[in-house]
Amino acid sequence: MSVGLPISALWPEPSPAPLDDDTLTARYGRADRPHLRMNFVTSVDGAVSVDGLSAGLSGGPDKRVFGLLRMLCDALLVAAGTLRREGYRAVRLDERRRAWRRAHGLAEYPTLVVVSGILDLDPAQAAFADAPVRPLVLTRDDAPAPAGLADVADLVRCGDGRVDLAAGLTELRRRGLDQVLCEGGPRLFGALTTADLVDEVCLSVAPLLAGAGAGRITAGDPSPARHLPLRHVLLAGDGTLLLRYARR
Ligand SMILES: NC(=O)c1ccc[n+]([C@@H]2O[C@H](COP(=O)([O-])OP(=O)(O)OC[C@H]3O[C@@H](n4cnc5c(N)ncnc54)[C@H](OP(=O)(O)O)[C@@H]3O)[C@@H](O)[C@H]2O)c1
Repeated sequence: MSVGLPISALWPEPSPAPLDDDTLTARYGRADRPHLRMNFVTSVDGAVSVDGLSAGLSGGPDKRVFGLLRMLCDALLVAAGTLRREGYRAVRLDERRRAWRRAHGLAEYPTLVVVSGILDLDPAQAAFADAPVRPLVLTRDDAPAPAGLADVADLVRCGDGRVDLAAGLTELRRRGLDQVLCEGGPRLFGALTTADLVDEVCLSVAPLLAGAGAGRITAGDPSPARHLPLRHVLLAGDGTLLLRYARR
């Protein structure tokens, strides 16, 4: 089945035929070991947002892959900044995607995992209050929790003075959450890169010049450059390039 604007393969094997969801699912897949996959959308000139949000960069094909990657993961990792700024709602999947997960022995929904140092989080935000699976919050050992947060999420304290992301991922894996999809944002991506925890980057490039002003998809302290091999290039009917880079 092809949904909306077509997506076709450009590389490594070009094929003009639109990719159906089963083929797309196989192209992204689940790794056979613990794996951290980042997913971002950017403009041709490298902007992380338009008017402060990613929505202005994301068309139908990007949203299709975004949903598919959510279907494939055990945990959906997001930084508090992006959760707040993008107004995250509960992570829900349609029946077709839930059926796919059941058929593959996965929980019906992925677990939302929020990274926050200072716990400036609103328990009434739908991402927590309406969550189909109780979310986790990775935070510092000493961060005071706001009233009501522990009613809607489990706090995982990992790190003295700052969130230890490697320890947080180890804890997720201990809970059986091996396949982690991170939807950003840039400061979390920068910290994960510094800690050398990123296995894969799925990057949508929208055919748009956003102009100066917005930041990049990564932010924070500099870290050594690391090679990340290209795995596939897909082209969507709206001109968006869907790139996948992965270590393995
Ligand atoms: N284009 C895209 O695909 C995409 C994707 C995601 C986001 N975005 C955009 O990115 C912007 C939001 O970015 P942002 O600057 O707020 O960055 P961010 O990385 O989304 O959030 C930063 C916040 O997350 C928490 N955090 C992140 N890394 C942490 C770490 N290593 N340790 C402890 N806490 C950590 C902290 O929360 P506390 O303050 O609670 O301590 C920090 O203030 C928005 O404009 C959004 O639209 C774009």
